[in-house]
Amino acid sequence: MADIGTIMNAMRDPAGVPGSPVLFQALMVITWSLHIAFVNLTLGASGLAIFAFHNRGKPHWARLSITLTQVAKVGVSLLIVLGVAPLLFTQVIYDPQWYASNVLSGRWAIAFILTLVVAYCCWFAFYYANREGAKKHIGLYAWIAFALFCLDGLIMHALSYQELLPGQWMHWYAPGGVVDTSGASLHAIQWPRYIFIMSLGLPAVGVFLMAYAHYFEPREDHEPSYREFARALGRRLASRGFTIALVPMLAWQFVQPAASGLAWHPVGWALAAALLAMGIWTARLDATTHGYRPAAASFAVLGLLAVWREIIRAVSLKRFGYEIGNYPVHPDWPTTLLFFATLVGVGGLVGGFYLVLLYRSGRTQGHYTADKNVSLLGSAAIVVLGIWTAVFFIYGIAVWVRNSII
Ligand code: HEM
Repeated sequence: MADIGTIMNAMRDPAGVPGSPVLFQALMVITWSLHIAFVNLTLGASGLAIFAFHNRGKPHWARLSITLTQVAKVGVSLLIVLGVAPLLFTQVIYDPQWYASNVLSGRWAIAFILTLVVAYCCWFAFYYANREGAKKHIGLYAWIAFALFCLDGLIMHALSYQELLPGQWMHWYAPGGVVDTSGASLHAIQWPRYIFIMSLGLPAVGVFLMAYAHYFEPREDHEPSYREFARALGRRLASRGFTIALVPMLAWQFVQPAASGLAWHPVGWALAAALLAMGIWTARLDATTHGYRPAAASFAVLGLLAVWREIIRAVSLKRFGYEIGNYPVHPDWPTTLLFFATLVGVGGLVGGFYLVLLYRSGRTQGHYTADKNVSLLGSAAIVVLGIWTAVFFIYGIAVWVRNSII
């Protein structure tokens, strides 16, 4: 055990990290929550879009299928973009584990990208063809895409889980003493964990539909009967979905290695309790509840899941002598400052402007005119982008000139 710990510590980036490792850990947890929120929404929306497509003869279902096909289309792009951030943070503090896991299943890591491209193309084909009078066979594209999305989740899961088992890496690398560099196997899959995280797609699309029904209240083209249909369906999916997800979650608790003490860790049980509470609460909701509240509460549950995953990782790796707390730190304040200024300025202001604009224009039927505050936000976003671009170039040129002189 100690040997693999020494090796893992030696595999760390000699440049160290530019700030406290805990900072990167926190950023990883936050950004992964966002990633998995869109993974769940996409899986739920695509699954329900297919179901609705096959039931399109019944009132409202064809419309719902078309809407959810669009939701899943946007969801995939967001889950990809939001997957990049935790990927970068994982690589900063868990680089030995992430790279070892990826290399041990190299073919799958590459197949992940190819299958995701094929899946997205298939979903686009379905999106293009899924309109009134659509032929039945176009559902095949959707099924292929959905199956590949699930496969991609499985690859992501195996890469994440293999990270936690450094004691087995040598055996996977050279089974029976013979080196196997093919990377052709997914070496470890923890089914309850995978099924649990994927099953959250069901409540995700449920809470989405409740928010959707609320969002379109001011628009006459989303008539009350359709909105009520979406809201009631969403409530049912959310309450049943949370209850169903509890089963693999509990199974996951009990397959935790006995020596780790994780099976009785309070955070794992807090997550199980949160799922149960969400199941009961959403079952009791009526039309008077604000439609965004279930979605906000669900996001808090995902935050708890993200923390729980991180606790499992920290406990599992500590047993092998790996802790992020002793990762060499070489502070780089200008870069750290630039990073946070970008996050707040560009992410907050420019991203905030787009969100407000999209939110408000989507709720308006017909022509949308931005009010004074939104216009002000838009101008501020342009100014911030200008400053950011100028700082980016000035800082880069200054470093380049200084290095050339020295
Ligand atoms: C359809 C596509 C995808 C699905 C279904 C999916 C699903 C998942 C799931 C289920 C996990 C959790 C695995 C576990 O904890 O057992 C996960 C983790 C993760 N995913 Fe995705 N994902 C997808 C695409 C992506 C993409 C495109 C990226 C990067 C650009 C990405 C980055 C990550 C990262 C960084 C983690 C955490 C790894 C770690 O903790 O070390 N994912 N994903």
